[in-house]
Amino acid sequence: MNIHSIFENNQHWIKEKIKQDKDYFKKLSAKQNPSILYIGCSDSRVPAEELMGVQPGEVFVHRNIANMVSNNDLSAMSVINYAVTRLNVKHIVICGHYNCGGVEAAMQSSDLGILNPWLRNIRDVYRIHQEELNKIEDDDARFKKLVEFNVQEQCVNIIKTPEVQRALKAKKISISGWVFDLQTGVLIDLKIDFDNILEHIMEIYHIV
Ligand code: CO
Repeated sequence: MNIHSIFENNQHWIKEKIKQDKDYFKKLSAKQNPSILYIGCSDSRVPAEELMGVQPGEVFVHRNIANMVSNNDLSAMSVINYAVTRLNVKHIVICGHYNCGGVEAAMQSSDLGILNPWLRNIRDVYRIHQEELNKIEDDDARFKKLVEFNVQEQCVNIIKTPEVQRALKAKKISISGWVFDLQTGVLIDLKIDFDNILEHIMEIYHIV
């Protein structure tokens, strides 16, 4: 890919949009009203809007390595706060993906410098689900299961924030965990049983 071709692509995109609707950019610039907050991996193969088939303005997006929600990550915490309290999104989605390099790195013994504290959060997910993960003999199957458990634990991390607890209490919001399968293109809803999971931990994380 030639970086200069991006500006030509941009001009082409503008023409296409205006052809469909001459007021497209007037409408786009007016106000954003997304109903979904999507938190996904930065991986270049997992393009948030494209895989969901949504248009600009429909989804508020946050991406980082391995779709993490860390309580001391000011960026992720600000995104969640803004999405829930200002944009009033109706759904929060954590979308992981199989073949995630971040999750894979966290399964290995290697010193990755500045990435160590970030990936340690995934090692903690492994520790929480160690018993079940260690029962899986096939390496690829265990890798996939850790990707799924990581999505689940990041959903739980979202629920630890007071603004999300308030929105859940008021039944204003839903939380979902998804996985994107790079090998097939299929987006999978993990259908996480939050009621069951939260029953055992909310006495600890309950704030509001
Ligand atoms: Co990834």
